Amino acid sequence: MQKLEVFGANKLRGQIKISGSKNASLPILAATLLSKKKVYLKNLPKVKDIETMINLLQSLGSKIKFEKKNLVIDNHKQNKKFASYSLVKTMRAGILVLGPLLAKFGNAKVSLPGGCAIGSRPVNIHLDALSRLGVRYKIVQGYIYATAPKGLVGTNINFSKISVGATENLIIAACLAKGTTTLNNCAIEPEIKDLVNFLIKLGCKIKWTAKRSLKILGVEQLNQITYSVMFDRIEAGTYLIAAVVTEGDLKIKNIIPQIIQTEINLLKKIGAKIIMKKNEIRIIGSKKIRNLNIRTAPYPGFPTDLQAQIMVLLCKANKNSLIKEDIFENRFMHVAELNRMGARVSISGNKAFVKGKTTFAPAELMATDLRASVSLILAALSAKGKSVINRIYHLDRGYEHIEKKLRKVGAKIRRIN
Ligand code: EPZ
Repeated sequence: MQKLEVFGANKLRGQIKISGSKNASLPILAATLLSKKKVYLKNLPKVKDIETMINLLQSLGSKIKFEKKNLVIDNHKQNKKFASYSLVKTMRAGILVLGPLLAKFGNAKVSLPGGCAIGSRPVNIHLDALSRLGVRYKIVQGYIYATAPKGLVGTNINFSKISVGATENLIIAACLAKGTTTLNNCAIEPEIKDLVNFLIKLGCKIKWTAKRSLKILGVEQLNQITYSVMFDRIEAGTYLIAAVVTEGDLKIKNIIPQIIQTEINLLKKIGAKIIMKKNEIRIIGSKKIRNLNIRTAPYPGFPTDLQAQIMVLLCKANKNSLIKEDIFENRFMHVAELNRMGARVSISGNKAFVKGKTTFAPAELMATDLRASVSLILAALSAKGKSVINRIYHLDRGYEHIEKKLRKVGAKIRRIN
């Protein structure tokens, strides 16, 4: 099992280029199943979850290869409808092949994703909404057996709760449904906008009719296209926070600052100096870090995927802070590890009470999930001495070349086997 060795504390200084978005790439890869024509994708991040999704598509019969900087996906002979547990269990976004398989073939057998460290990750909202399109399903031994005897038929769907994955599954499915589908109470994360842009370029008929409403007209013909996925806003947010945690000075490039306006405003309130340009942000950390109360929320609220990272920063604030995790039921797995480094965070239900004025001490640590892992790196970067972080396979699911990017801006970090 690989580990990361981090020697803190040092200020991060220099430039970091942000990679393509994992959470935009995954639904877009699943959506390529709709088309029998070649799709060329650019800017996909080299992370484990993307590799797993590619393996899942190949297990369904997709022909996939790299050509220069493009991933070329050829689905004209794709004809399998079985997504196995072995692939879906490690990457819950595997459930996103359900919508396109039903749209294309009218039947599918897809493994239930199963839970993970941050929560039980149910898919009831996906299944209830697909039923509205005429899907019949039963769950047998952990698999969803779904059929649409009359094909998918468009209708009006109101999501009972805002769900990124359910919104993505239904958008993709509705693209080939007969007639018109309206989706209300949609998630509007930028990755969903990127998926919609991809599908429109593919030849789908989709329109935003209100802030959280979409109108989708089923089509038959799709185009051969090239598409470049958006930047990873969570990776960008992570490095912005790293700059403030280490009182550093970083230029974060290849981004669209307006998309992370909430995070920028919050970091300014905390005391960071931020200079924004068209596709980059310069952020300068300050000695004085002000405390803040934060609640995670669907976009454009503060993202749950940055909750662990901002907690590290708030441990160093001048006063105490409160963090409310309103998206997932168990997303405080990083707290126990941070407390072993000297943090004083106490949890009550979905609230974390973060004491300020913490000086992190180095320690041997255990990563538990993707974003918790990176919060341990942030704490280790600000702790004087050597920390070791175990189970970093969690990290490799979603951060491309993280130790290389951090070393380039002065971090003393290396991977050890
Ligand atoms: C997506 O997960 C992201 N994953 C998550 O990022 C992100 O944290 C989450 O959205 C929230 O922004 C990808 O995009 C691949 P949800 P998803 O459906 O789609 C409950 C990361 O670190 N729910 O919006 O699974 C669910 O349990 C990952 O990159 C149901 O109850 O999130 C959760 O409490 C972690 N029933 C809440 O809704 C359902 O059918 C939000 O989940 C679906 C979801």
